[in-house]
Amino acid sequence: MLPHIVLVLWLYMQVITINCTANLPALKKDYCIIGAGPSGLQLGYFLHKAGRDYLIFERTNSSGAFFMDYPRHRTMISINKRNTGKTNKEFNLRHDWNSLLSDDDSLQMRHYSHDFFPHADVFVKYLQDYTEKHGINVKYNTNIVNVKRRDKFEFQMQDQSNNTYDCGTVIVGTGLSLPNIPSFKGVEHTVGYEDMSMDKADYEGKTVLIMGKGNSGFETADYIMGATNFIHILSRTQYKLAWNTHYVGDLRAVNNGLLDTYLLKSLDGVLYSEVEKMKFVKIGDKIHITQPGKSNSTHRQSRRPVDNNDLREPYDVVIRCLGFKFDFSLFDKSVHVEPGRIKGKEKYPAITHSYEAFNVPGLFFTGTNTHSLDHKKSAGGFIHGFRYTARVLSRILEFRNHNVSWPSVTQPTTELLNHIVKRFNEASGTYQMYGVLGDIVMFSRNRTVYTYIEEFPVNLLDQLRTKTGHDTEEVLVIIMQYGKRRFFKKFTGIPGKAHLSYFLHPVLYYYDELPSRGAMRNLTEGSVLPRPMKVHHTVEDFLTDFTAPNSHILLLRRFLESCFQTDLRNLYDSQCFSMAMTSEVVSSMCQYNDYQLKMSLPGERQGS
Ligand SMILES: *[C@@H]1O[C@H](CO)[C@@H](O)[C@H](O)[C@H]1NC(C)=O
Ligand SMILES: *[C@@H]1O[C@H](CO)[C@@H](O)[C@H](O)[C@H]1NC(C)=O
Ligand SMILES: *[C@@H]1O[C@H](CO)[C@@H](O)[C@H](O)[C@H]1NC(C)=O
Ligand SMILES: *[C@@H]1O[C@H](CO)[C@@H](O)[C@H](O)[C@H]1NC(C)=O
Ligand SMILES: *[C@@H]1O[C@H](CO)[C@@H](O)[C@H](O)[C@H]1NC(C)=O
Ligand SMILES: *[C@@H]1O[C@H](CO)[C@@H](O)[C@H](O)[C@H]1NC(C)=O
Ligand SMILES: *[C@@H]1O[C@H](CO)[C@@H](O)[C@H](O)[C@H]1NC(C)=O
Repeated sequence: MLPHIVLVLWLYMQVITINCTANLPALKKDYCIIGAGPSGLQLGYFLHKAGRDYLIFERTNSSGAFFMDYPRHRTMISINKRNTGKTNKEFNLRHDWNSLLSDDDSLQMRHYSHDFFPHADVFVKYLQDYTEKHGINVKYNTNIVNVKRRDKFEFQMQDQSNNTYDCGTVIVGTGLSLPNIPSFKGVEHTVGYEDMSMDKADYEGKTVLIMGKGNSGFETADYIMGATNFIHILSRTQYKLAWNTHYVGDLRAVNNGLLDTYLLKSLDGVLYSEVEKMKFVKIGDKIHITQPGKSNSTHRQSRRPVDNNDLREPYDVVIRCLGFKFDFSLFDKSVHVEPGRIKGKEKYPAITHSYEAFNVPGLFFTGTNTHSLDHKKSAGGFIHGFRYTARVLSRILEFRNHNVSWPSVTQPTTELLNHIVKRFNEASGTYQMYGVLGDIVMFSRNRTVYTYIEEFPVNLLDQLRTKTGHDTEEVLVIIMQYGKRRFFKKFTGIPGKAHLSYFLHPVLYYYDELPSRGAMRNLTEGSVLPRPMKVHHTVEDFLTDFTAPNSHILLLRRFLESCFQTDLRNLYDSQCFSMAMTSEVVSSMCQYNDYQLKMSLPGERQGS
């Protein structure tokens, strides 16, 4: 007995004496989220609900601090549609682009602002309330400056005061924090969107050049238009209009006032040129632009020198509105996160469709950082999109780290038609993340029951078992899709031409076995899934109400019947009785009328 105590005491003294100057032991967490912006908070909410050991690290003293500075003109361009004529909360989220997912009904943006495009300060207040009401754990004033591998299973993070934190899983929700500044001659004579003056008096009687044809460029133009002589917007390529492309990151109508003054010939204008080939020279107060090689060329026909160059007038102010990119300096050499390239630009980190960095197991991303997966295709870079992908990530982590299968409902096949129609008409996650998240229906071998999971990233379909914990061969995938772009944007409305639908409409893909990884990798441009065994488009609807008995439901039922070779008609008892008396096979709709629902009702989901 005694020798043991002595030994323990001796060891204790060793530690005390040797390491009396050492730092306190590192704080240890299963999940470390970097950034208390909307995506970090959304993920924190789901980890909190699941009772996980997590902490969010925030650089500033407030949640959502990005929105204290941005957008610079202080008006959000995400819609706050307070009324839809419906009380269904899930449906209403289709038209609420600001709220995060929450089971607290007071945390809806409609209670915070009556403006269709709310003030950004209101959104900051919303995020602060969201954090507080849900008791989400955030460590403020903690700027994580370095993330490195500690060992095979853990990361170590360091903050600005050299405190260290050990983390099992790291999730980066920092957003895009670095302004994109291309290299060109005379860049020092330009000012960035991030530091431009917001005092309109500074632009009084000024001639302004704005570089960048995105929302921030046009937003800036709108803001100062009333004060300037004129504004030119310079870009490499033609601007794209969101109403034309369905992509909310393209130029939104709310920002495009300058197109009016350009096209109605009121001095403002949009011109195209590559900035890298230009030279900005300051002469006196004015900034002159030369394009080497172009300035002393000659007109092709007259062979006279070009003297009507679009850029021949000098500017007083040149503003760069060229977007933002991810800050890779966060990572140590031991955490090799590769940049993903989009059109040659290294804007986002390269990640898998489970939001994990390539070759860095355990390091995940959430929010705008993940937009490389659906850039120009869906809404994953925006609040109304990444609130769902954050939920998807929480489900992926629950299964990966805790063996908790994805939430699902299992019901008799007789319920399937109603279940699908209900989702067509209210589901918000598959509606906002069209073409990316889809519902999955899985069947038992004898097809008497089905299991339904919601909002699965369809690009992971080949890995359905290993990501969700649900085992199946035969699947039906339900996704919302826009049709091919056409010049005349007219509603089809004709059920027989549903595959030509131009607007958002549900599409069902049926596979008798899960597609292989090779087939998933082999996808052609523009297709979201490999060739299915059967496919069904439900025709687009002007009212977005997919309940028309013939156009929508009858054709859907026939499709399901053709996939599963069963009769899905709703029959009266008397019809079942006569069927039982006259035929050897009785419709499955008769056999399972009193099936006990084992699980919850369709549409009822965890967390809402
Ligand atoms: C003392 O602390 C330092 C740094 O905190 C550490 O590297 C070292 O291994 C510790 N020594 C012992 C004996 O625990
Ligand atoms: C956060 O910091 C800013 C200055 O950076 C200060 O104005 C503000 O009052 C602080 N807020 C809180 C809640 O401490
Ligand atoms: C953090 O550590 C580095 C070197 O390890 C040192 O140079 C720096 O002063 C430290 N910073 C603080 C705030 O302690
Ligand atoms: C264009 O003008 C510059 C000087 O202004 C001169 O150096 C250059 O040789 C000229 N290029 C051509 C093709 O004439
Ligand atoms: C995961 O859970 C399933 C049942 O849900 C169980 O059969 C399996 O053994 C578990 N796996 C691990 C590694 O705990
Ligand atoms: C069909 O399969 C399910 C589970 O796979 C089972 O519970 C059920 O009894 C089966 N029904 C029939 C009619 O075989
Ligand atoms: C990939 O596409 C090519 C050409 O379309 C086809 O020949 C090949 O079989 C496909 N591979 C897989 C695994 O589907």
